[in-house]
Amino acid sequence: MVEEVLTALQVKSDGLYIDCTTGEGGHALSILKAVSPPPRLIGFDLDADALKAASSRLKEFEQYVELVQGNYADMTSVVNALGIDHVDGVLMDLGISSLQLNEGHRGFSFQQEAPLDMRFDEGQTVTAADVVNEYSEQDLANAIYKYGEERGSRRIARGIVYARPLGTTTQLADVVARSVGRPRGRIHPATKTFQAIRMVVNGELENVEAGLEQGIQLLEQGGRLAIISYHSLEDRLVKTTFRTESRDCICPPETPKCVCGHTASIRLVNRRVIKPKDEEVAANPRSRSARLRVVERT
Ligand SMILES: C[S@@+](CC[C@H](N)C(=O)[O-])C[C@H]1O[C@@H](n2cnc3c(N)ncnc32)[C@H](O)[C@@H]1O
Repeated sequence: MVEEVLTALQVKSDGLYIDCTTGEGGHALSILKAVSPPPRLIGFDLDADALKAASSRLKEFEQYVELVQGNYADMTSVVNALGIDHVDGVLMDLGISSLQLNEGHRGFSFQQEAPLDMRFDEGQTVTAADVVNEYSEQDLANAIYKYGEERGSRRIARGIVYARPLGTTTQLADVVARSVGRPRGRIHPATKTFQAIRMVVNGELENVEAGLEQGIQLLEQGGRLAIISYHSLEDRLVKTTFRTESRDCICPPETPKCVCGHTASIRLVNRRVIKPKDEEVAANPRSRSARLRVVERT
């Protein structure tokens, strides 16, 4: 959703932008190319391989770019350490990149045999193998239900615990498939479980929560935050945070007089969520679940 992101961010030459999830640098490149001279950009990613790819892709703009291998949930302290208090725009393009999915050895894909890893940051100690082999059956079922919205979570958790120890992606995928029985539709039965375990390993929802709060706080007045999510749980979190932060009062509706003292810090730029155009979905089927929301700092 490159075009939509550029419209959302209203990039200006003297602006400073944070790309929280640089990946291979696709969005970052389009932000840098949007205006001449290019703006400054700070690009975060947890994944050293992704940043290596981004660094070579953004080579011609290197004087405008600072790439940081780190968690966007720490963005305030990182940019403060660079002497920056405020920025003109923040972009978050959540989840996993195609590079990560296609790098078989990283363990994100159930279609390629690999150790159960799934870490965005390969320096992190907790891997998918730890979650799969060490969580209690109850905790596994809860995680698969919450983060995967998987109705068969209990059966899957029971199957995993019975089959332990599990070492590889294909072993996990087989156990899930056996636990849920016949596939429903065209989606592989392990899709939701893999997503849930990846989200647990990387603390994804907690990071989104911290990233939203810090992103909003870092914006200059009139600055924009654009966020693309691919999962209804994330999109719901984004939607409720934006609703709350765009209201002057968050008292329960039955309260006769405001007692919360809350003031709006943002304005919703788009009331309805922005979805990718049909042509984009046709060219890149993985984009079909993308949802873009945009706010402006008041
Ligand atoms: C969907 S991809 C971004 C693709 C990118 N917009 C592009 O155009 O190439 C998401 C990226 O976010 C990174 N990521 C996920 N959680 C992160 C976090 N908490 N902090 C920093 N990067 C994170 C992943 O490693 C992945 O490379």
